Amino acid sequence: MSSSPPASARDQLVQAAREAMKNAYAPYSHFKVGAALLTSTGEIITGCNVENASYGVTNCAERTAIFSAVARIGPTIEISAIAIVNDHEAPCAPCGACRQVIYEFGPKATVYFLSAKGWTELPITALLPEGFRLQ
Ligand code: THU
Repeated sequence: MSSSPPASARDQLVQAAREAMKNAYAPYSHFKVGAALLTSTGEIITGCNVENASYGVTNCAERTAIFSAVARIGPTIEISAIAIVNDHEAPCAPCGACRQVIYEFGPKATVYFLSAKGWTELPITALLPEGFRLQ
């Protein structure tokens, strides 16, 4: 038996991520990304990438979604699953920084993303072994 959310939840998250992707601000990379997360209490919160002329302060879609979830719901949110989409239909696994942020709020989270092998579902601990925790 799998502990990951049902396929319908995944489809709903992918759809919500596609919707959020439309708001992406990506004038530098022209690579729009959307993310949608499901909390353990059933809320879906979305985000998109927000770039900046000072490239390094760009915020990825995943972190936008997670920070929005904390701002909207509170610091006790737990991420059950997160889906990531992009407008190039290109392989796009979360970057290292986003993996650490997903892990902070969802050590048991399932991550849905497009890999070179197609749609992929992995636990965050497979993407980030030995993730750092202070508590
Ligand atoms: N990006 C994301 O938003 N999420 C990812 O998982 C990979 C990369 C964004 C950052 C930047 O705005 C653009 O994609 C190109 O790197």
